[in-house]
Amino acid sequence: MKVLIVFDTKHGNTQQCGEIIAEGINSVEGNETEVVNVKDFDLSEDKTYDLILIGSPNHVGTYTKSIKKFIKNLSSASVKASSFAAFDTYIKGDFEKAVKKMEKQIGENFPNSTMALPGLSIKVGGMKGPIVEEDLSKCKEYGIQLAKKE
Ligand SMILES: Cc1cc2nc3c(=O)[nH]c(=O)nc-3n(C[C@H](O)[C@H](O)[C@H](O)COP(=O)(O)O)c2cc1C
Repeated sequence: MKVLIVFDTKHGNTQQCGEIIAEGINSVEGNETEVVNVKDFDLSEDKTYDLILIGSPNHVGTYTKSIKKFIKNLSSASVKASSFAAFDTYIKGDFEKAVKKMEKQIGENFPNSTMALPGLSIKVGGMKGPIVEEDLSKCKEYGIQLAKKE
């Protein structure tokens, strides 16, 4: 399957998470992934993906404005996808807070698409990271599970 992973990041941890998920997806034969910073992604291109995965750091209890805008603009863009999944990075007690909100917007903006898997929420040790040890393996496993869904 063809997968796009779009992320926002301030300190690189959400990017790293996206790259490890991509490794997991690519470890299953027959898959290709593109991992792109949201600020570099060109929505005007005519592209079709089997899956778009969207990642954001938790900023003040929610996902970032750039990702919010990306999801909104994607719904009227020529880039197409049949399924979605989302992930966030957070510190301390905000497990799944941002990713649940992203999933809600994805559901509203793409009512005919499916969520490939429930969202992934990855803990970082502080504002600048790093991703906590046990969550690193969750990223890879999530990628493998996504690849096996197809
Ligand atoms: C402006 C700002 C606000 C933040 N607010 C929260 C928050 O409310 N809850 C939380 O768990 N983490 C919060 N964080 C921590 C980020 O989630 C953490 O820095 C991020 O996951 C690191 O990812 P990144 O390296 O991709 O930027 C905040 C970080 C920033 C920069």
